[in-house]
Amino acid sequence: MTIDLRSDTVTKPTPGMLHAMLKAKVGDDVFREDSTVNELEARMAADFGMEAGIFCPSGTMTNQIAIKIHTQPGTEVICDKTAHVYIYEGGGIAFNSGCQVKPLDGKRGLITAAQVQEAINPDDVHRPPTSLVCLENTANRGGGSCYGWDDILSIRDVCDQHGLTFHLDGARLYNALIAKDESPLQYGKVFDSISVCLSKGLGCPVGSVLLGTKEAIAKARRIRKLFGGGMRQAGYLAAAGLYALDHHVSRLKEDHKHAAQLADCLKDKDFVGEILPVETNIVIFSVKGRFSSASLSAYLKEQDIITVPISPTQVRMVTHLDITQDLVDKACTLIEAI
Ligand SMILES: Cc1ncc(COP(=O)(O)O)c(C=O)c1O
Repeated sequence: MTIDLRSDTVTKPTPGMLHAMLKAKVGDDVFREDSTVNELEARMAADFGMEAGIFCPSGTMTNQIAIKIHTQPGTEVICDKTAHVYIYEGGGIAFNSGCQVKPLDGKRGLITAAQVQEAINPDDVHRPPTSLVCLENTANRGGGSCYGWDDILSIRDVCDQHGLTFHLDGARLYNALIAKDESPLQYGKVFDSISVCLSKGLGCPVGSVLLGTKEAIAKARRIRKLFGGGMRQAGYLAAAGLYALDHHVSRLKEDHKHAAQLADCLKDKDFVGEILPVETNIVIFSVKGRFSSASLSAYLKEQDIITVPISPTQVRMVTHLDITQDLVDKACTLIEAI
């Protein structure tokens, strides 16, 4: 059986999730008549203690809508240099919002309050006004790294001092909540908007929810339509989200344990250099000696283990709902034999 460690986006709905989807009550969500979508949006808003939510097709869309509603063209967005919003959203910040980015040299995808403070532009006609700070938790290119809570609060303070809005790309926020034993309510109090993906560790086929104030989400509804993201009987998909919130959150600790096991079996191999600390479900390691990242990935693929060479020297493995303990054991046995 193929061991697909490319991403936690490759999961297929479980029988339980499919059953929940099939029995969903639906309506036309553009008319706000889909009771299952309404339930998902209200439930997530309540879980995070935020006023409102909006269900969208993807995490790219929820991030891009958030950036659009928090900025004006010609302003500057601060984020880490490896942030998904910056390097993996097709130049959307420039294309959709007419903003430029000030990328910061964070550590493992995480930036600090001091770096944000230093990156804010002075009030000078030559300089674009700074408008928004975006964090990513967990940070994908940081190897699933998590922010310390006090670091988030310190960045919020800097935003408050300078009148900046604060967005969280929480594509894998539930992984961070489980790893750090944090609550969604903490996050809802601190960020102006939060994007949460249902189609990553939570195992849904499609969907992300953007959370914010009533006013922000009303604006988001207009932008979602403009981006072509208004969906009709989307309740079938929202039902998968509701099911995942009930059944797939606490099990994320299994994925974290599996990622740690993979890192442990890699650590003594002569072709493995630095392994980024494994905090959640992502293992990123550098490759040295007889393999390049591409040739190691190709070799592993011959053994039915699929990985991603994310840079010329680094390979990424991601654990998820469809990676069982048996598959992790099998992957370790195959890796140990290399
Ligand atoms: C950190 C992060 N943010 C946002 C996204 C975008 O999600 P989507 O693929 O649903 O557009 C991803 C996708 O992998 C991601 O890893």
